[in-house]
Amino acid sequence: MEIKKLCVAGGGRMGRQIAMCAAIYGVDATVYDVIEPVLTDVEQWADEYLAGRVAKARMTQEQTDAVRARFRTEKDLGEAVRDVDCVVECILEEEALKRDFFKQLDAVVGENVILATNSSFMVSSLFADCVKNPARLCNMHFYNPALVMKFVEVVQGPHTSTETAQAVYDLCLKMEKKPIWQKKEIPGFAGNYLIAGLYERARYLVEHGYCTCEEVDIAMEYGFSHKMGPFRLNDLTGVDLTFTMMKEKYEQTGIKDDMYDIYEKMVQEGRLGIKTGRGFYDYE
Ligand SMILES: NC(=O)c1ccc[n+]([C@@H]2O[C@H](COP(=O)([O-])OP(=O)(O)OC[C@H]3O[C@@H](n4cnc5c(N)ncnc54)[C@H](O)[C@@H]3O)[C@@H](O)[C@H]2O)c1
Repeated sequence: MEIKKLCVAGGGRMGRQIAMCAAIYGVDATVYDVIEPVLTDVEQWADEYLAGRVAKARMTQEQTDAVRARFRTEKDLGEAVRDVDCVVECILEEEALKRDFFKQLDAVVGENVILATNSSFMVSSLFADCVKNPARLCNMHFYNPALVMKFVEVVQGPHTSTETAQAVYDLCLKMEKKPIWQKKEIPGFAGNYLIAGLYERARYLVEHGYCTCEEVDIAMEYGFSHKMGPFRLNDLTGVDLTFTMMKEKYEQTGIKDDMYDIYEKMVQEGRLGIKTGRGFYDYE
């Protein structure tokens, strides 16, 4: 099965870029969001992004016109998923919200439509009971910024059919990504499972006064040639996203991660990272 028409649910940082990437590689892509101003912003962002590609001579005007014609936004879920082959869920990283969304989606989408989640940590098994046909459900996890980063994890849960994983994997290839096909689920999947170990130790070092966030970043950037240390990277991915996950863990297990209080304060003060101009570093 070939995915030719896609709906991306959630027009935030990830959703809009995933949809744009699909449109660039010839897939019809509709961004759906519950907040109308987000969709207005997505439309404006799409125009600016494509104009930038022409200005930098990366694409011709003719090419960007064709991409723009394949990229649209829609505030009605039923309309957004009309005739699509696949829906990529890109809403907030909260299990209850995602479960509600999959139930809502299942009521309006055909049983053969592939349902993928871009969740950073949640395996699709968590949503298998929310949909009629879980064989069509899997993870499709992009990295930020999705237009640039090549790595994508396709994760086949025990409920996922091989045809579903294959179609999603093929879509990644069509988008010139470098995907892996995990045939066994683990929270965070290969990439975030690996990096979570680094984050845990980075936060331990800061919480217990061994070094500062900047020094942790220096260690990883200059000692191990990481493009960005964990805190600089966190400014890119969003301090709020990390705190949401820390909070969920705390609520579920009673375990408070190192630096929990620092993250909470940063979120309260709007220091969310690059998107707000301030996070662990100042971008103004
Ligand atoms: N930010 C990252 O670095 C990153 C990387 C990989 C994966 N992810 C995952 O992608 C997902 C989205 O992350 P993001 O950073 O784009 O978040 P974001 O906060 O930028 O965007 C989320 C969007 O979802 C919308 N939304 C919320 N509830 C909705 C609903 N019921 N229906 C439709 N839209 C709804 C919000 O209005 C918002 O526009 C999360 O699951 C996150 O874990 C994020």
